[in-house]
Amino acid sequence: MALIEVQALSYRYKDGTRALRGLTFHIPRGKKVAVLGPNGAGKSTMLLHLNGIYLAQEGEVRFDGELVTTKNERQVRSKVGMVFQDPDDQVFSTTVWEDVTFGPANMGLPDDEVDRRAASALHAVGMLEYKDKAPYHLSYGQKKRVAIAGVLAMNPEVISLDEPAAFLDPRGKETVFAILNNLNRQGTTIVIVTHDVDLAAEWADEIILIKDGRCLAQGGTELLTDTLLVEAAELRLPTITRLFKELGGPETQILPKTIREAVQVLSKK
Ligand SMILES: Nc1ncnc2c1ncn2[C@@H]1O[C@H](COP(=O)(O)OP(=O)(O)O)[C@@H](O)[C@H]1O
Ligand SMILES: [Mg+2]
Repeated sequence: MALIEVQALSYRYKDGTRALRGLTFHIPRGKKVAVLGPNGAGKSTMLLHLNGIYLAQEGEVRFDGELVTTKNERQVRSKVGMVFQDPDDQVFSTTVWEDVTFGPANMGLPDDEVDRRAASALHAVGMLEYKDKAPYHLSYGQKKRVAIAGVLAMNPEVISLDEPAAFLDPRGKETVFAILNNLNRQGTTIVIVTHDVDLAAEWADEIILIKDGRCLAQGGTELLTDTLLVEAAELRLPTITRLFKELGGPETQILPKTIREAVQVLSKK
C-alpha cells in the first residue's frame, strides 16, 4: 500500500476556479517523488491537500490507509511537513531558533525535547550556528534551509516542497538537494514540485505529471523521454534526451536522460 493515496480528488476555489478535476495518484513510501506540470496545473493546490491544509471537496486523500478528514487533519499535518515555495511565507519569527522551536513547542512537547529537535534540525541543514540570527538578515538560500529545519523539527514521515530549486543559485540548490537526499536515506519520503525536467530525471525515483487538475501519468523517470507525453504536459525532454534525439539512432533505442545513462550508452559503442 502506498503511503499517500489520492483518488478522484477535485477542488474548486471560492471564486469558482476548478483547480483539481478528478486527480488520482499515489506517493510510494520512502521514495523521492517529483511532480511536474505547467503553471496553473494544480500542483500547489494538490500539495496543500497532502497534509490536510485543504480537505477534499470531492474524492479522497488517504494517509497510511486512513482517510484525511477534520478528525485527523492536525495529526496528518505533523506527519507530512510542507515547505512553501517562498520562505518568507514560512519563516517569520524574531530569531531562527524561535522559528524552528515553534512547531514542536506547539505540539506540546516538553522543553528539552523541543530544544533537542530544533538543534538536530538546524544541524541537519547546516544552520545551527545561525540560531540566534534574525531570519531577515539571512540570504534566500539560508532562509530556505531554516524553513526546511522548521519542518524537520516536527519529525515528519513525508516532506513536500513546492519548487525547492526556485530562486536558488547552483550552490544553494546543491545544498538543499544534499539535505533532501540525506533525509531520504534515513527513510523520509520526499515529494517535490518542479519545472526542471533535468533535475527530475537525475533525482527522482517516481514521476507524476499533472495538467488541468488531472494526472496525465505516473511512473519511473523514463516517462520523461516520452515525447508525446512530455508535450502534453507542456514540458520539454531532458537536455541529454534531446541531444541523443538530435543525433539520431535506431527508433527502438531507449534514449538516455541523465549524464550517467549517456555515458553508459556511449561507452558501449
Ligand atoms: N486562492 C486561489 N483562489 C482562486 N484560484 C486559485 C487560488 N490559488 C490557485 N488558484 C487557481 O487554481 C489553479 C491551480 O493553481 P495552482 O495549484 O497554484 O497551480 P500550480 O501550482 O500548478 O501552478 C490555477 O488556475 C490558479 O489560478
Ligand atoms: Mg504552484
